[in-house]
Amino acid sequence: MFRINLPSNTGLFFMCLIMTSVSFVSAQTKITIQAGKPGAQISPTMYGIFFEDINFGADGGLYTELVKNRSFEFPESLMGWSKLQQEGAAGLLSVRDNNTFITGTAYGEPGNSHYLRIVVKKAGKGCGITNEGFRGIGLEKGKKYWFSIFARSSSDKMGFKVELVNADGRIVAQGRLDNVTKDWMRHIFSMNAIETEAKAKLNLLVTSEGSLDVDMISLFPDDSAASDSSTSMPIPGLRKDIVQMLSDMKPGFLRFPGGCIVEGYDLSLRYQWKNTIGEISQRKLIKNRWNTEFKHRLTADYYQSFGLGFYEFFVLCERIGAEPMPIINCGMACQFNSAQLAPMDQLGPYVQDALDLIEFANGPAESKWGKVRMSMGHPKPFNMKMIGIGNEQWGPQYIERYKVFAKAVKEKYPDMQLIAATGSDATIFPNGQKEIDYLWSQWRQLKPEFVDEHFYRNPEWFTENANWYDKYDRTGPKLFVGEYASQSVGVASPDNRNNWKCALYEAAFMTGMERNADIVKMTCYAPLFGHEDGWQWRPNLIWFDNLNVYGSANYYVQKLFSLNPGTNLLPVETSGPATPDDSKKALYINSTLDKKTGEVIVKAVNITPDSQAADIELQGISKVKKQAKAITLTAKSLTDENSLRESKKIFPAETSVAVTSPKFSYNFQPYSLTILRVPVE
Ligand code: AHR
Repeated sequence: MFRINLPSNTGLFFMCLIMTSVSFVSAQTKITIQAGKPGAQISPTMYGIFFEDINFGADGGLYTELVKNRSFEFPESLMGWSKLQQEGAAGLLSVRDNNTFITGTAYGEPGNSHYLRIVVKKAGKGCGITNEGFRGIGLEKGKKYWFSIFARSSSDKMGFKVELVNADGRIVAQGRLDNVTKDWMRHIFSMNAIETEAKAKLNLLVTSEGSLDVDMISLFPDDSAASDSSTSMPIPGLRKDIVQMLSDMKPGFLRFPGGCIVEGYDLSLRYQWKNTIGEISQRKLIKNRWNTEFKHRLTADYYQSFGLGFYEFFVLCERIGAEPMPIINCGMACQFNSAQLAPMDQLGPYVQDALDLIEFANGPAESKWGKVRMSMGHPKPFNMKMIGIGNEQWGPQYIERYKVFAKAVKEKYPDMQLIAATGSDATIFPNGQKEIDYLWSQWRQLKPEFVDEHFYRNPEWFTENANWYDKYDRTGPKLFVGEYASQSVGVASPDNRNNWKCALYEAAFMTGMERNADIVKMTCYAPLFGHEDGWQWRPNLIWFDNLNVYGSANYYVQKLFSLNPGTNLLPVETSGPATPDDSKKALYINSTLDKKTGEVIVKAVNITPDSQAADIELQGISKVKKQAKAITLTAKSLTDENSLRESKKIFPAETSVAVTSPKFSYNFQPYSLTILRVPVE
């Protein structure tokens, strides 16, 4: 850092001259890039995404079912529903538990046997139920919504009306069904919304006396869901605007179905993929582990319906061009919760689940699980190449279980790449450094293809450790940075913010991960989603409510790295100033070559409040092609953040930059991430 003390009587003009010339000479950063020496390849999977059903990520979020507790399977059977008796009406509600029409043929454990009986004593203006949705039901004016239901009645003439009402109770869409018979049948019809409303409710009102049994009461927007009345399976009901945000990132992979959710509080609540496929009505619901995880954010109505299940995850991967990366439970429940273990001699079914999953994804259509995939609408294999064994596991119990999984998987599928874990934080492990050293000593011997490291630390940690991977063994397993996010207050604090400081400091760390792309092969931010009214954990990459979605500042950092990876690393040397307090570097830099487009890419993160002038030299290049591109992400203040109201406050700006020679200067804006793309010959 350069400081000058000026005499108090120095004239202002003279003072400015001195400061300008001195800072230009002394503080100018030099960036020398050996553009003619492309090195290690950047993996096409370098930047990916990590989905977990936390913060209403699936039900109430990405999955577009708008009715909560649609099949009355929540332990509190009428949660989300209440009785509705309009003028002159009287009736009774009771939840029953023997719906054999729906139960019985699922691939996993039998699922949804509950249904609701509405006994109408006086029909009046309508007697029935109302559903509150997931913190309301989001409706858009002019959009079509598909209502579906399984129903039977005590007589062949029963009918009911369905209304979608806004927050004031005014009807904004409606429909009617008059042909409910004595036998269970699925009925479906559409309704058009005449108003936009974020907090609508769904009313079902019986208009004649008798009894009506109902189950799987469902509402999907037209642009995502099953509009085909014959089957609800082939079209995953995923929210279009949210999927767009994901596909805009061009993610290299999708890690799913989560972190802790894979493990479960105890083994009964672990994620079992076989319960998440097949007919949606037969998927077995469980309590979401984030329902009660945080006392400060209890979410009593958080369950997993698995409408978004493993088949849909694979299809999603295909649609957004991401490699599927399923994580499987390895016979261990969350070690921060019950730490329950499947005994070693009872590990068989867990291992079989992993093998069957690979067959489900990749097996020929004639194989047992390939046939199931085909029956769901996807004869072609999903071409899954990797699988994670456990989430944040540690200790000798993990190692002995990992070995069993690794042996079984490799014996049957030698090319399947395995991902092994290193607990919840690769720096501050619960049992201290010894534990992480123990795990790494095992991984060096057992040689999984990837070792997964997680970092939830304060922003400063990310800049101070931008060189984290410089020191790693180049011959050991490759690295997967499977979860990381800068925490403005502390891990799991409800006060954490997705502010610009967190995003910018993560960007600095990312230059370091990218510089180590010879060993760091995959990286992703965590968690992915947060519902504005239904979150348990923050910060999150993408936020939404029932109608809108926006990317956090961190999202745009991830997106810019992901869209500008380049194909090969370039050696870079920098010399230059530190932050004003001398504690850190001012600029964090990495450079790559994009062989496909013939561009040198420079990523620069300026964490100081001053712009940083730099002399950049592309060595080994004879000519540059005049017009370079600069993409800049910055904010006025480190506390700035995007929000529903100001969703693009922090948003990339693209400009053309005239570059006439391989030696040029660039002024990196204060508090900015800049990506320069310089076409070269
Ligand atoms: O991302 C939130 C949680 O943090 C994940 O479920 C878990 O793997 C980690 O501890």
